[in-house]
Amino acid sequence: MNHFQYRNGQLCVEERPLAEIAAEVGTPFYCYSTATLARHYDVFAQALADAGLAATVCFAVKSNASLAVVKTLAERGCGADVVSEGELRLALRAGVPPGKIVFSGVGKTERELSFALVSGIRQINVESLPELETLNALALRLGKTAPVALRVNPDVDAHTHAKISTGGAEHKFGISWAAAPALCRHAHDLPGIDFRGVAVHIGSQLTELAPFAAAFGKVRGLVLSLRDDGVPVGHIDLGGGLGIPYAPGEEPPSPAAYAEIARDAVGDLGCELVFEPGRMLVGNAGLLVARVIYVKETGTKTFVIVDAAMNDLIRPSMYSAHHEVIPVAEPAPGALPVAVDVVGPICETGDTFGRDMQLPPLATGDLIAFGTAGAYGAVMSSTYNGRPLAPEVLVKGDKSCVTRRRLSYDEMAAGEILPNWL
Ligand code: LLP
Repeated sequence: MNHFQYRNGQLCVEERPLAEIAAEVGTPFYCYSTATLARHYDVFAQALADAGLAATVCFAVKSNASLAVVKTLAERGCGADVVSEGELRLALRAGVPPGKIVFSGVGKTERELSFALVSGIRQINVESLPELETLNALALRLGKTAPVALRVNPDVDAHTHAKISTGGAEHKFGISWAAAPALCRHAHDLPGIDFRGVAVHIGSQLTELAPFAAAFGKVRGLVLSLRDDGVPVGHIDLGGGLGIPYAPGEEPPSPAAYAEIARDAVGDLGCELVFEPGRMLVGNAGLLVARVIYVKETGTKTFVIVDAAMNDLIRPSMYSAHHEVIPVAEPAPGALPVAVDVVGPICETGDTFGRDMQLPPLATGDLIAFGTAGAYGAVMSSTYNGRPLAPEVLVKGDKSCVTRRRLSYDEMAAGEILPNWL
C-alpha cells in the first residue's frame, strides 16, 4: 500500500493534503508517513522471522535522526544503530532500550566510548586495534566490561556508488581480513572486553544480493575458524545496505530474498543476529516538499527554480542521485510533459535536482515533492547560503505534527560571537 497518493487532485501523505501542510508550515519541508515507516519495519522484521532468524533490527539513525521517526520505529520494537554520542543520546531520548543499541563507526572518541559504556548499550562495534585498546583501558578504569563485536572488512565489492562502498580493502572501515582472526583472539583475551562476535557492513544502496552473499559467507568462515580455535562467537551483526527503488521500475532485492541470503550464510550458527537497515526503513517514507519560485526560459533550457536546494537535499549533487519530482496538484489528464531542469536557488551549478526531467507544466507558486527523501535527506542538510534548515513534519492518518520547527533568523544567529577586537 502506498501512503502517498492523490485524493481529489491533491497529493496526500496518508490523509493529510500536502498543500494544507505547506500553507501551515511554509516551504521547503520534509514530510514523513507513520504508516509507511511502520510497514517498512514490519516487512523487514517479518522477513527475518520468516527465514527463522533470531534477530534484532537496529535502525541506522544516521539515515534519519528525527526524534519522532526514531520513536515511531522504537515503539514497534526497533533498536538503533548509532555512530556518535549525539545519535546515542537521541536514541535514548526516543526510548530505545540500551539493550537494543549498537554503536558503529571508525573514529569513536574516548568520550563517546565512555558514554556508551555508562549507558549500558548492547554492543560496541570496534574497527581497529587502537580503538580496542582504548576501550579496554576505559572499561577497566570504569570497572566495566565492554560488550564488543569486531567489525571486519571482508574485501568485497558492493557494486554501489564509490562514495558509499565500505567493504573493500582500500576503504577505511573495519579490520582487514587478514588481521581479523588474531584481533578477535586478542579481544577475547583482554580483561576489559567481552568479545561477543563480528560485524560487517559493505555499503549502502546495494541493488544486488551477490555482494551480501559473498560478505556473509566470509563472515561464516571466520566464525567457524574462530570457534575451532577456541574463541566463542555468539553474535553476528550483518550491517545494513539493502537498496530501495528511487525511480519507477527499479526493483532492488526484496527483504525476503535478503533474509534468505542471511539465513543461508549464518542461520545455522546459533548466533544472535543484528541488522542495521537505514534507507530501507525510512527512504520511501519521506518527501521533501518545495514551491516553484520562478520558471526561467533561456532559449536552450527551461529551468524550474524551486525553494529547496542542495543544502536541504544534497544527494543529487553529491551522488548524482535521482529523486522523482511529483507535482503536488495532480496534473490534468493528458497534460503534455516538458523537459525542464529542476534547480535550487544556491549559487552553484551543482544545485540541480534533475536535468531534462519530463514534467507536466509547472508555474510560479506550484508545489512539488521530491520522492524517496526520507533517508539521508534532512540529516545531511546544512545552512549553506544562509538558509534555515527545512522543518520536518510527521503525519499519522489525518493528523500532522511539526516534529522539528524551522529556526528563525535570530535563532540561527544566536550562536555567533564577535571577537572583542572587531
Ligand atoms: N550500518 C553502518 C555501519 C553504516 O555505515 C550504514 C550506512 C548503515 C548501517 C545503514 O546503511 P543503509 O541501510 O541505510 O544503506 N549518505 C549516503 C548513504 C551513506 C550510508 C552510510 N552508512 C546516501 O545518501 O546515499
